[in-house]
Amino acid sequence: MAEFIIREMQESDIPAIMEIERSSFTTPWSEISFLNEICKKYGISKVSVFDGKLIGYSCVNYVLHESHILNLAVHQDFRKRGVGTILMNEMIRELKMKGCVFMYLEVRVSNTGAQAFYERFGFTAESRRKKYYAHPDEDALLMMGRI
Ligand SMILES: CC(C)(COP(=O)(O)OP(=O)(O)OC[C@H]1O[C@@H](n2cnc3c(N)ncnc32)[C@H](O)[C@@H]1OP(=O)(O)O)[C@@H](O)C(=O)NCCC(=O)NCCS
Repeated sequence: MAEFIIREMQESDIPAIMEIERSSFTTPWSEISFLNEICKKYGISKVSVFDGKLIGYSCVNYVLHESHILNLAVHQDFRKRGVGTILMNEMIRELKMKGCVFMYLEVRVSNTGAQAFYERFGFTAESRRKKYYAHPDEDALLMMGRI
């Protein structure tokens, strides 16, 4: 029977993460960025694994009652099947235990799919960060959610 798990991100996950990262973003993170997240004291980095294949990941940082989603992506072939939702719920569960109340994130103005995804968690657009992204240059929406 197929097995689906969520677990802590490990250094050995990085090659599989990079494949998803490069196909999901025009300015992908580097391997070192993920390594930094794995080592951070105030960070939570998770992966979702289906039948031994890494299909999604998330990175969030937190300080006191605030947290910031830095990265979240699901393999193209596994989108719209609830994997992102499970990763979000796991982040929220752990952040609540650490006393966090707010989550923030930036998202491309054109990335309406991700915005719709976050809106399902009660996130709302708070402000706009001008030319936050490159390739192509684009504003970010700063979204905030209460958890
Ligand atoms: C955003 C992302 C992580 C969502 O992951 P996912 O596993 O596909 O999300 P889920 O299946 O849990 O979606 C839950 C709900 O969110 C909404 N949603 C998700 N993707 C959507 C899309 N592309 N368009 C509109 N609504 C969407 C839907 O309401 C969906 O429920 P439904 O499938 O019953 O309609 C995924 O699309 C992704 O990796 N995108 C590329 C990377 C990215 O943009 N990351 C976010 C950067 S800020």
